Amino acid sequence: MKIGMLGTGLVGMNLATKLVQTGHEVKIGARTKGKKEAVDWVNKNGPKASEGTFADAAAFGDIIFNCTNGQHSLDALKLAGENNMNGKVLVDVANPLDFSTGELRLTVCNTDSLGEQIQRAFPNARVVKSLNTMGSDVQVNPSLLPGDHDVFLCGNDQKAKDQVTEILRSFGWKSIIDTGDIKSARGMEALLLFWISLMKKFPNEYFNYKIVRKTR
Ligand SMILES: NC(=O)c1ccc[n+]([C@@H]2O[C@H](COP(=O)([O-])OP(=O)(O)OC[C@H]3O[C@@H](n4cnc5c(N)ncnc54)[C@H](OP(=O)(O)O)[C@@H]3O)[C@@H](O)[C@H]2O)c1
Repeated sequence: MKIGMLGTGLVGMNLATKLVQTGHEVKIGARTKGKKEAVDWVNKNGPKASEGTFADAAAFGDIIFNCTNGQHSLDALKLAGENNMNGKVLVDVANPLDFSTGELRLTVCNTDSLGEQIQRAFPNARVVKSLNTMGSDVQVNPSLLPGDHDVFLCGNDQKAKDQVTEILRSFGWKSIIDTGDIKSARGMEALLLFWISLMKKFPNEYFNYKIVRKTR
């Protein structure tokens, strides 16, 4: 499959590498074509890897990942171009975190979320929020942690969620919890407030959420 990866930070690069390793063609996108980190990534990852602008990556992908800075994701997606995303699955991995005041806060919360803002701004994209609730290495390699632990996903389009589920399984995820429509992004993004507190307590980011329940 062809994947458009929006974002050249750690998350975009790690996911892009994993997707190439699992057989996909990936174009990674930044605000400008030829960004050094993107070119270096292409040189390391062989013929299935390419780079360009956000718009180039979005046009290329059958599925698009949003791994841009959450405060600026709506701007990044505008640069990617609505026409390049219409009808496509848009996996939103971003978190609307703001550290600018010295105190962690979300730029949107309670009655709205970044996932919902993206779905409203691009109504013909099929937004699926996922992978935002764990560190980047765990996203692409869940077996780094012992036992079962959870990845969540939500969105309005069941077929889009099914496609994302297949990709998650190919990364090794076994416990994939569908939390409902895109409004569930409110809770998934709010989990980051707690995740960051844990991150400050623990020696590294190798931990994750696990929901324990009685099934009957
Ligand atoms: N770090 C983690 O372990 C982790 C885990 C789960 C989710 N997340 C979420 O994943 C996303 C990516 O995180 P990251 O740490 O890899 O990278 P990041 O530094 O948060 O974001 C990098 C990307 O954001 C784009 N960007 C920054 N400012 C922009 C602006 N004003 N307009 C348009 N685009 C802009 C950059 O574009 P250029 O390439 O052009 O510079 C770059 O591609 C974030 O939303 C983060 O909250 C992170």
